[in-house]
Amino acid sequence: MNVGIIGAGHIAEKAARTLAAMDGMRCLAVGSRSLEKAQAFAARFDVSRAYGSYDELLQDPDIHLVYIATPHSCHFSQTRDAILAGKPCLVEKSFMMNAVETASVLALAREKKVFTAEAMWSRYMPARTMAREIIASGAIGTPHMLTASLAYNVADKERVLKPELGGGALLDLGVYLLNFVRMYCDSPIRELSTSCIRADSGVDASEVITFIHEDGTLSSVQASAFSQSANEGVVAGTTGYLVFDDIINPGCLRICRKRHVVEREIPVPRQITGFEYQFQACADAIRAGRLEPPQMPHAETLYIMHLMDRLRAEWGVPVTGCR
Ligand SMILES: NC(=O)c1ccc[n+]([C@@H]2O[C@H](COP(=O)([O-])OP(=O)(O)OC[C@H]3O[C@@H](n4cnc5c(N)ncnc54)[C@H](OP(=O)(O)O)[C@@H]3O)[C@@H](O)[C@H]2O)c1
Repeated sequence: MNVGIIGAGHIAEKAARTLAAMDGMRCLAVGSRSLEKAQAFAARFDVSRAYGSYDELLQDPDIHLVYIATPHSCHFSQTRDAILAGKPCLVEKSFMMNAVETASVLALAREKKVFTAEAMWSRYMPARTMAREIIASGAIGTPHMLTASLAYNVADKERVLKPELGGGALLDLGVYLLNFVRMYCDSPIRELSTSCIRADSGVDASEVITFIHEDGTLSSVQASAFSQSANEGVVAGTTGYLVFDDIINPGCLRICRKRHVVEREIPVPRQITGFEYQFQACADAIRAGRLEPPQMPHAETLYIMHLMDRLRAEWGVPVTGCR
């Protein structure tokens, strides 16, 4: 399966390194707004085709999957263009700028029968299934509380600071936390309370979000684009707790009975970078004739985008993008 990458930036490099080490998939082409940049990227990652526009990549008949790796503000038009060109696409998180864009793109994908997926890579990892099995086995009793935080100091990044590029901690980092909650608590959200600290540019810099679920579970998560943190998550049950040493890509899962007493430590399988699972899931779904991957259904991408619109409305942070 030949992948074409749109945008020769930071995360595109990780994707290219991952694809270079995978069996049965490769990065065939990269598209950039600058031909020189595309050529330099292609030379670094052994990619055979370099295009000086995104459109040329979409017209390449040998590309089977387009990976969109640009700022959030670009996703809407680029994903539409890819769908209209008949190209299956894997779109970096956050999928779009808002729920209106998300609903519109997903409707177009359905209408044109083109596979589309959000690259929420934590959803595709074996660690997800492993953790769900541990919880279902009763190893921590009945879960009643989820806590997690995610903080990277990315305040120097233009796309994180600028509202017009879809900046803010929520679309960049908080989206992982909302997915963490949704992956490990099946009970619907009944109540939400939240507050945020805004950056000078107006985007959300740090936030705390608390949910009460229908079954009485409490989830509390914090994100910050202005600090570094351990990025741990905990699912706490009546007889113990499950620790994720990293909520996005855990190195291991730890079952603890009492405070800091580790009963069992379960390593995750060896990986290239962890991105291989999302690429493999897309390949499998496309070969099976699906329009969405089971790991990240469209309905879930849309639900989380609605939640993110609601959170920004509560904070008074403008929801940018097409409406
Ligand atoms: N999965 C993960 O772990 C992870 C981590 C970080 C980021 N991400 C996501 O990946 C996406 C890209 O993030 P990134 O950190 O790679 O971004 P980035 O390096 O700032 O930008 C990526 C590329 O987007 C292209 N681009 C197109 N229009 C642009 C514009 N108006 N301003 C700036 N760049 C523009 C540029 O490529 P050309 O100049 O080549 O056209 C740029 O190099 C975002 O959705 C982000 O949330 C995911």
